[in-house]
Amino acid sequence: MSGWLKVLKIFGFVIAGIAVYLVLIRLVRRIWHFPAPAFITVFLNSRLREKMQNPVEVIRRSGIKPGQKVLEIGCGGGFFLPYAAHAVGKDGKVFGLDIAEAMLVRCLRHLARVPVDLRRRIELIHQSAYELPFDDSSLDVVYLVTALMEIPDPRRCLTEVYRVLKPQAILAVTELLVDPDYPGCGATIRIGEKAGFKVEAVEGNFWNYTVRFKKP
Ligand SMILES: C[S@@+](CC[C@H](N)C(=O)[O-])C[C@H]1O[C@@H](n2cnc3c(N)ncnc32)[C@H](O)[C@@H]1O
Repeated sequence: MSGWLKVLKIFGFVIAGIAVYLVLIRLVRRIWHFPAPAFITVFLNSRLREKMQNPVEVIRRSGIKPGQKVLEIGCGGGFFLPYAAHAVGKDGKVFGLDIAEAMLVRCLRHLARVPVDLRRRIELIHQSAYELPFDDSSLDVVYLVTALMEIPDPRRCLTEVYRVLKPQAILAVTELLVDPDYPGCGATIRIGEKAGFKVEAVEGNFWNYTVRFKKP
């Protein structure tokens, strides 16, 4: 067999393997919707993740600007929090909220390695996405990365997000294909619109996209 044929065969096996993984993992998730285990932060906070889903780009797409008050729902191991803290600058504030205590423990460990000026801008909250501890119309941006569809009732979460966002403020939802709960872009748009948001932009690609909504 020529060298090229061998390469093609290996490539075919890799693609088929990924396809089988994606189908099987989605089937499992339909039957058994358990929360992401905390050990998954080994991947979520890894260099491989950084290559698959550039955090600087995700934060840029989420429309985060200096001086803003920003919330990440389902922050997990805190992979995106330092980048959001950098984007809001010294006058901004970033809240990372998660329902899983074990995730927040790992998040704290992760943040301990972050420069102190960024860390000071971040506050962690142990809470459910259904009860956001913020006043009405008090936040500039709420963003979620590979988290919305893991929340058992995403519609209820977005209704709560709507309440805490200021008028014209942003809800950004980013998804990654390898996530077992990955929804297509159309599904994300539908769920956001049902909660009252208007699509402002869709960025990225099928594999890794962000839908940026505005609260009218
Ligand atoms: C796949 S992880 C993503 C973590 C992080 N956003 C990232 O991309 O690295 C999803 C996170 O959503 C959190 N989560 C699930 N249901 C939640 C809920 N009802 N309220 C708040 N967080 C929730 C999980 O605990 C988990 O940390």
